[in-house]
Amino acid sequence: DKKLLDDAKKLAGYRAVEDNVKNGQRVGIGSGSTVKYVVDKIKELGYTDCICVPTSFQSRQLIIEAGLKLSDLSITPELDITIDGADEVDQHFNLIKGGGGCQLQEKIVAHASKELVIVADYSKDSVEFGQNWKKGIPIEVHPMAYVPIIKQLSQAPFNLKATLRMAVNKAGPVVTDNGNFVLDATFQSLNSQHEIEKLNVQLKMIPGVVEHGLFINMTKKVYFGQTDGTIKLRS
Ligand code: A5P
Repeated sequence: DKKLLDDAKKLAGYRAVEDNVKNGQRVGIGSGSTVKYVVDKIKELGYTDCICVPTSFQSRQLIIEAGLKLSDLSITPELDITIDGADEVDQHFNLIKGGGGCQLQEKIVAHASKELVIVADYSKDSVEFGQNWKKGIPIEVHPMAYVPIIKQLSQAPFNLKATLRMAVNKAGPVVTDNGNFVLDATFQSLNSQHEIEKLNVQLKMIPGVVEHGLFINMTKKVYFGQTDGTIKLRS
């Protein structure tokens, strides 16, 4: 239900700011529908001395519209905290991100931060890796390489079924904020933490893969908004 989901996102976004952000901090702003509430809360609390670094065009617009201080990593290379959404979070803090195609900038900004805090609604909370997010791992690729990469992913050791993400209101592929394409790569089973960590590295080694949506060992704190108005904190 759309309203339940939206209320849950709001809960998570608000609480994460209240618990973790102080006025004047350098804050990475993630992308997606949940992060909207993060920016709303920073504005509402009057944290106008916060220095905000965006992770996408959308996130940059949110910062500007809220009248917050906008920066980038060339001016502010070290951040105190980044708050971002996720498409799925499992029990080991493995994240799948990139449903909105922003994983490259999101990973760069998160990596530049002392801490990454995730905000999500209850539908993102998984027991098994890949349980909730069925669209596959989002992989940003250089346009010239997308067909060879799809072929390579279909073979060992990957055995992933990747498809080119197509735009909705335009004939042709989704083009990221960085001018690249996105593949969505589904997998049969990734059973052990070892397998997930191996895939994390192996994907990055393919020439033409710019970044992928597996975020492993990057966060230790996740706020899940629940349907009953409470928060489930995994930390
Ligand atoms: C953007 O590419 C993603 O990584 C988002 O962080 C993720 O899709 C979460 O978005 P929602 O908050 O809209 O679910």
